[in-house]
Formats: sequence, structure tokens, C-alpha cells
Amino acid sequence: MNTHSPAAADSGASATDVFRQSGRSSAGADIPVERAQALIGDAIKAMSDIAEKHSMTYEEFNILKGWLIQVGEDGEWPLWLDVFLEHTIEDIVTRDRKGSKGSIFGPYYVPNSPVIQSPATIPMRDDEKGTRLKFTGNIADVDGGALTDATIELWQADEEGYYSQFAPGIPEWNLRVTVPVDSEGNFEISTIQPAPYQIPTDGSTGKMIAAIDGHAWRPAHLHILVKAPGHQDLIQQLYFPGDEHNDDDVAQAVKPELMLDPQPDGEGGKTAVYNYQLDKA
Ligand code: DHB
Ligand code: FE
Repeated sequence: MNTHSPAAADSGASATDVFRQSGRSSAGADIPVERAQALIGDAIKAMSDIAEKHSMTYEEFNILKGWLIQVGEDGEWPLWLDVFLEHTIEDIVTRDRKGSKGSIFGPYYVPNSPVIQSPATIPMRDDEKGTRLKFTGNIADVDGGALTDATIELWQADEEGYYSQFAPGIPEWNLRVTVPVDSEGNFEISTIQPAPYQIPTDGSTGKMIAAIDGHAWRPAHLHILVKAPGHQDLIQQLYFPGDEHNDDDVAQAVKPELMLDPQPDGEGGKTAVYNYQLDKA
């Protein structure tokens, strides 16, 4: 039995609060009018085209209105947009990169997690459940030169699929860490293997998924943010072979380059290596 529930009212509303506080919703608000006309005009036209194509009825139009209102009241717009649209934006903005592949940010990042020197153990509960995972690697530029002033941030769900600071009952900063690399650009982080994650099913996003007979699962993943001065931030997720949702991620955020290859460490845990290459800013 879970000791807490993934209620939309908890994780969904927290994601809305955290997003508002991040300042990202107003950064870049000076979008030129021609650009706004193109984006907003096409969005409105796309909605009308769908209504036309399917001869949408008044009943369906009113259900849509009620649902849109409810997504906002549930605080689920960060969830909905990060699941269904962010993968497209991520593909567009990283198209020209030569270095490591990225993936979606998702709604559950919190800046300024505890800084722990490498070799680091991620903050976790004394009785944290899950297979021990030692995650190691190197951070370099696209020519292989070590980036010795890089940091790697890791955040992840626990063994039950919940994120600290979003689901209730988990200590602050649990399974969240910032690790500066060593003098050769290497890092080592001891953590646990996360569980597959189900986006909240009890709010309006879940209702929409049920209405189309879909599922709400994402495969187990580590969230990563790598930063180095003079280089582009790398927002990434890493996945585990054999997860039943690697091929049907609800958020469509899995790429073959993001698959880890964890090996048994002989002591009941696993080790996984990932080497990064960052593009210049
Ligand atoms: C969502 C959750 C995640 O952990 C993630 O990586 C992407 C999206 C979500 O609930 O929207
Ligand atoms: Fe996630």
C-alpha cells in the first residue's frame, strides 16, 4: 500500500506553483506581433479545422470547454503540456546539436538542489526502497576535451514513482542532487533505480486519457541537467532496458541514445555509465 497518493490535487497543483515561481512563464514575453500572429493564428485555425473535419457537435464543444476549465482548476497544465507537447519543442530546439541527445524537462524540476562533491550519494531516506544504482561518467565538449567546471543535476522518482516536493510525505530534496565534476570532468553518483511513473490518473488529464482508452505510463527514468560555462545546457532523461513502457511512453520522450546499460556490481546493486558531450553555447 502506498502511504501517499499521486493525487492530481497534490502533484498537479504543485507543478503549477513551481512553474509559476520559476519565472519561465513570463521570460521572453516580448514575442514580436508577427510571430504571435503566426503561432496564435495557426493554433486557432488548427482547432477550427479539427471541428470541421469531424463535424464537432455542440455537446462535444461544451465538453471541451468544461474540460479546459477543469485542467486549469486541477493545476494540470504543466503536466498536460509536458506530456503531450514538450517532446516536439525539444526536438525542434536541439535539432542542430552535435553533442549528447536531450529529452523533455517535465514538470518536476526544482532548482538549487543540495550540492554534493563527487563521489556523491544522492539525499535519500534511511530505508529508501529500490535497487542501488551507481551512475558514473564524464562531461566533455564535442571534441572530447574535459569540462572540469561542469555540474550535473539529477532528480528522479522513488521506487513507488513519486517525486519529492510534489507528492506529499517525502522529505525535501529526496532523490535530488547537484554534483560538480572532479578535475578530470568525471562524476559518480550513488542512487536507486527509479520506478515506472504514472502521470496522475485522478485529474482531468487522466480523464482525457481514459476517454481515448489510453494509458498514463512513462518508463522509469532519471532526469539530468548538465551545465558548463560557455556550453549549452543539456536537459535529458535516461532510461532502463527492458521497461515495458520504453516503446509506448505516454510523453514520447524515449530515444535509443538515452538507454543506459546497467551492469550488476556483484553486491546486489548496479552500475551504469554515461559520457556526455556538450555543444558550445
Ligand atoms: C510528467 C512527469 C514526468 O516525470 C516527466 O518526466 C514528464 C512528464 C508529467 O506528469 O507530466
Ligand atoms: Fe519524470
